[in-house]
Amino acid sequence: MDSFSATLFAFNLALLLFRSAAISDSLTAQNPYLTDGLSLVSSNGNFELGFFSPGLPTNRYLGIWYKNRRGPTSVWVANRKTPISGSSGVLVMNITTGNLTLFSHNSTVVVWSARLMRKVPNGVLQLLDTGNLVLRDREDENPQNYSWQSFDYPSDTLLPGMKLGWDLRYNIERRLEAWNNLNDPSPGDFSWRMELHEYPETVMWKGSRKYVRHGPWNGVRLSSRPLAAAPILNFNFVSNENEVYYQISLVNKSHSVMLVMNQSSYTRILYLWSAAERRWRVYTSLPRDYCDNYALCGPYGYCDIRVTPSCKCLEGFKPRSPDSWKTGEFADGCERNKLMNCGDEVGFAHLNQMKLPDTTHTWVNKSMNLEECKQKCLRDCSCMAYANTNISGSGSGSGSGCALWFGDLIDLKLIPDAGQDLYVRMLASEIVMHGEAHKTGRLNSKVKTALFAISGLGSAILFFIIGVYIFKRRSTFEDDHEKIEAHDLELPLFDLSLINSATDNFSLNNKLGEGGFGTVYKGKLTNGQDVAVKRLSQSSGQGTNEFKNEVILIAKLQHRNLVKLLGCCIEGDEKMLVYEYMPNKSLDFFIFDKTQRQLLSWSKRYRIICGVARGLMYLHQDSRLRIIHRDLKASNVLLDMDMNPKISDFGLAKTCGGDQTGGRTLRVMGTYGYMAPEYAFDGQFSVKSDAFSYGILLLEIISGKRSRTFCHLNDQNLIAYAWRLWKEGNIEELLDDAIRETCSLSEVLRCINISLLCVQQHPNDRPTMSSVVMMLGCEIPLSQPKQPGFFIENEAIEMKRCSSKDKSTSTNELTITLPDPR
Ligand SMILES: *[C@@H]1O[C@H](CO)[C@@H](O)[C@H](O)[C@H]1NC(C)=O
Ligand SMILES: *[C@@H]1O[C@H](CO)[C@@H](O)[C@H](O)[C@H]1NC(C)=O
Ligand SMILES: *[C@@H]1O[C@H](CO)[C@@H](O)[C@H](O)[C@H]1NC(C)=O
Ligand SMILES: *[C@@H]1O[C@H](CO)[C@@H](O)[C@H](O)[C@H]1NC(C)=O
Ligand SMILES: *[C@@H]1O[C@H](CO)[C@@H](O)[C@H](O)[C@H]1NC(C)=O
Ligand SMILES: *[C@@H]1O[C@H](CO)[C@@H](O)[C@H](O)[C@H]1NC(C)=O
Ligand SMILES: *[C@@H]1O[C@H](CO)[C@@H](O)[C@H](O)[C@H]1NC(C)=O
Ligand SMILES: *[C@@H]1O[C@H](CO)[C@@H](O)[C@H](O)[C@H]1NC(C)=O
Repeated sequence: MDSFSATLFAFNLALLLFRSAAISDSLTAQNPYLTDGLSLVSSNGNFELGFFSPGLPTNRYLGIWYKNRRGPTSVWVANRKTPISGSSGVLVMNITTGNLTLFSHNSTVVVWSARLMRKVPNGVLQLLDTGNLVLRDREDENPQNYSWQSFDYPSDTLLPGMKLGWDLRYNIERRLEAWNNLNDPSPGDFSWRMELHEYPETVMWKGSRKYVRHGPWNGVRLSSRPLAAAPILNFNFVSNENEVYYQISLVNKSHSVMLVMNQSSYTRILYLWSAAERRWRVYTSLPRDYCDNYALCGPYGYCDIRVTPSCKCLEGFKPRSPDSWKTGEFADGCERNKLMNCGDEVGFAHLNQMKLPDTTHTWVNKSMNLEECKQKCLRDCSCMAYANTNISGSGSGSGSGCALWFGDLIDLKLIPDAGQDLYVRMLASEIVMHGEAHKTGRLNSKVKTALFAISGLGSAILFFIIGVYIFKRRSTFEDDHEKIEAHDLELPLFDLSLINSATDNFSLNNKLGEGGFGTVYKGKLTNGQDVAVKRLSQSSGQGTNEFKNEVILIAKLQHRNLVKLLGCCIEGDEKMLVYEYMPNKSLDFFIFDKTQRQLLSWSKRYRIICGVARGLMYLHQDSRLRIIHRDLKASNVLLDMDMNPKISDFGLAKTCGGDQTGGRTLRVMGTYGYMAPEYAFDGQFSVKSDAFSYGILLLEIISGKRSRTFCHLNDQNLIAYAWRLWKEGNIEELLDDAIRETCSLSEVLRCINISLLCVQQHPNDRPTMSSVVMMLGCEIPLSQPKQPGFFIENEAIEMKRCSSKDKSTSTNELTITLPDPR
């Protein structure tokens, strides 16, 4: 800095110190400095530019935020990676060049500077009413002529009017990058970008992994987007030789919104300012559901959130690794039933209600019609599918444009009522085989069949018992489990012949259920004892010794709220586990059934609630090996003669060494509707993800409503419903009619409070199971739950999930299970 400008600087500083903190909406040649403590405020008063500290008070950042409505984030940050220590920061606009520079340390260190398009002598740096900070000529307000604007360099927030995408002329990419954490605005590894494919689409990335794909623009909306009943935003998508971008705008100009990438929850959240409540409300969040997991079902698989398991192969395809699909792992996706070669006679299967597949390998011609598109695809052996690029007016068959897909089709999702048509290349013989059914409603009817089959099966199926996990006994827990002597640990081995006769040669009449792991049969031993025999499928791929070792370890696990292993049977390829038989089936059989639920009084339910908590605590708390269940749900809680709960199905159980409280897996398995967000979307499991599932189970027991198929006019799911009633002070409405009259209201309210604590978004906010047991056991005051996470508070989206109704029969939820091979 030369001496003149230093003088000027000192002069301005002196001048400014005597002004109020907010100086105006702009820096000008007369007043080119913004020092820490001062701010610019947009002329409508909505936005403010200034210095702030998100974490340590000594770490200062220059940023923009909603004035008087500080939300969860500052909408823009200049020096994201380089905090200024102390209050020495000053933003300087060079009056001869326009250069914008952020200095610290008495103007000796450059912390950040703007990349200008061109020189702007005599410029103005102005904070606009939209939240955009622009550098322009004094006389020229034409947005085309801005030399620099903050909207071109987004942080973690998209505001209306901002562009997400590319300016190809200047090679500027505008992408959102979440903060590293709440206290550190430097970019985390969670981002939202526009992929510059032939058929462009926006994708959320976690590091170098695609995380959620929004699908390409189809002329009306992003291909993955459900129809909104009362949208608050309009969307605009532009793709031409100069620019490719996505933009939001407000339907009602008096609303305030921000679309924020959130590193800690791995979600993209749309916040809407609620004037009445004077706070930012979560309006929608993405991912919406488990099926949004990128490529969950692999090539040629599609995801349907309304059924379990959620992955299916497209018609004419089969799982490439059937064993893996049986266990819910969905590895390797699907392959054609019959190999297709170039030169084979082919046609196209018509799928509807689809989110279009990944567009990495695509080709587009916006002026072709569908028939031309088909011909084009037919002529190229590597063209696997085609679709219209503009479905506007396609209801009347007038869609337009052509997109072709080459290579495997990845990341398909069924979007009821809002998806679109996709035509997939098939052998002509395969299409003939399936006849006209391809034309319309193909998937719909398939879904209906699937649902029918599942519920039919459900009434026949009583429960699953699957148990393979490692355990070490915790000796200080004696009062809570039966004492066993060391020499008792030898597990009885049953003869195959004995099992054969006990189960009447595995007759169908004795079949109780089927899981990913094998089939469960009822049996009667010669001494008259009823048992449940789990016959492991041969594909479970375990060696005999391994199996034996595991079984011995399971046998050591003794607690009155865990189902008990009596022995096993190993002969040749046959491996079986023999469990005590539970005459009263599983919890879901009671709480979701109109007549059966009458049998479960509140006191019985309360016993179950406490028992499950104790069983889970026992799994979690073992001193040397913690066990994380990972698939706690109503159908995995079995009931004995006296309606005591016994947790079963440890197929997913994970053990962790001493201090470890969790882990991470790439293979997320479990049951949709019970999964904690960090587990469903990031594979992170812990004792706290089990606590989340427990919270859901609690809500189900109290309300008699099934989380997975919950359906209510205004609420997206059971959590949202419970939370709304809680906030409105109407929580008694949640109660199952069967217990309303007889229950102890204070106990019920306590349980609901606990359940809401268990389903908090952030694992740290959820209690451990031992605190849950304590909260249930004594009258200690409970903390108030914050707004639960994951699900959307009030999304005005019509998802016709309700069409499959909340069945009152004991619907089998087809557990997705697998022993974890170590
Ligand atoms: C991110 O999510 C966490 C936990 O839900 C919340 O506390 C925080 O305010 C959010 N931050 C942003 C920027 O949305
Ligand atoms: C403005 O920029 C010019 C050219 O880079 C430089 O010579 C001058 O010192 C700058 N002025 C200030 C006040 O930094
Ligand atoms: C001012 O901007 C020009 C380009 O516009 C750049 O070459 C120059 O280095 C900048 N000067 C300072 C002091 O940042
Ligand atoms: C800033 O730097 C100038 C010259 O290097 C020095 O004279 C002055 O004392 C410094 N001011 C402060 C507050 O450190
Ligand atoms: C400003 O914009 C107008 C209209 O787009 C254009 O004619 C003019 O050349 C621009 N001025 C500069 C300095 O780019
Ligand atoms: C826009 O929102 C404001 C405030 O929420 C409301 O008063 C007004 O009626 C809305 N206008 C329209 C056209 O919906
Ligand atoms: C796109 O399709 C139209 C109509 O079939 C055709 O005239 C045009 O040449 C095509 N463009 C390209 C680049 O293939
Ligand atoms: C899509 O089609 C509709 C009606 O056919 C037309 O009005 C609209 O301009 C098209 N959109 C694009 C982006 O081509």
